[in-house]
Amino acid sequence: MQLLDGKATAQEIREELKNAVDARRSKNEKIPHLAAVLVGNDGGSLTYVNAKVKACEQIGFDSSLIKYDAQVTEEELLAKVHELNNDDKIDGFIVQLPLPSHIDELKVTQAIDPLKDVDGFHPENLGKMVLNLPGFLPATPAGILQLLKRNNIETSGKDCVVIGRSNIVGMPLSIMLARSTNPGNCTVTLTHSRTKDLKEKVLKADIIIAAIGKPGFVTADMVKDGAVIVDVGTTRVEDSSKKNGWALKGDVAFDEVAPKCSYITPVPGGVGPMTIASLMINTLQSMELRGK
Ligand code: GUN
Repeated sequence: MQLLDGKATAQEIREELKNAVDARRSKNEKIPHLAAVLVGNDGGSLTYVNAKVKACEQIGFDSSLIKYDAQVTEEELLAKVHELNNDDKIDGFIVQLPLPSHIDELKVTQAIDPLKDVDGFHPENLGKMVLNLPGFLPATPAGILQLLKRNNIETSGKDCVVIGRSNIVGMPLSIMLARSTNPGNCTVTLTHSRTKDLKEKVLKADIIIAAIGKPGFVTADMVKDGAVIVDVGTTRVEDSSKKNGWALKGDVAFDEVAPKCSYITPVPGGVGPMTIASLMINTLQSMELRGK
């Protein structure tokens, strides 16, 4: 079994991006500027947004963090989205999800200028992704493809089972893995809460992507020998041995599953750092798409 080390692969990407930014700086070209909008005090969202801003600093991107309390109105948030759309300094921006229930997430993501939508959540970018046209790819699925590619994992012709059909991960990733690209060319089964005989389906998979947010859901009896496993789960589980009182747990029962796999991502240190790295790739690309 080999660990798919997202932290190391993400670091490799950050160094490449830093070189690209340094080259732009030396030619007096514009430096990418990412803005992140955070609503409320959800601990997980706060951690992710802070990590995104920190990654910008390390690479040399400019960044802005815009915080609202959970009571912000939909109108106020939409006004900020329009302001960022029209601010020429900002190359790309994200609105961290989930949003409080009184705000319509779809309305907010659809209000983002597709040319600044570095999360790749806008329907226009999702449509381009399906057709394999240039546009922004959603950060987590794109990060997973980078992780597979940079670790020389063959996907062509493989049977892949994706567990979970979220708009952010499972649904777009199932399409991206089925496209005629590298990585891609998989035969994909997208499974969800209504899937029959899930265990039998997962047992046949060469590549398993677990993205349902249920700690330890994938157990050893569901995995065939030599499978490649990508664990997208990051649930906070109480853990009194930790200083902060919780530990991050993936969707895969790592200790019992790892010995059966050829490759497996750890949690933390697998998919999480790759999501941030691909957001940074999209931010650099955003300037190019807007001709800056
Ligand atoms: N919430 C969980 N993942 C993401 C992400 O990739 N982008 C945003 N904006 N919110 C998220």
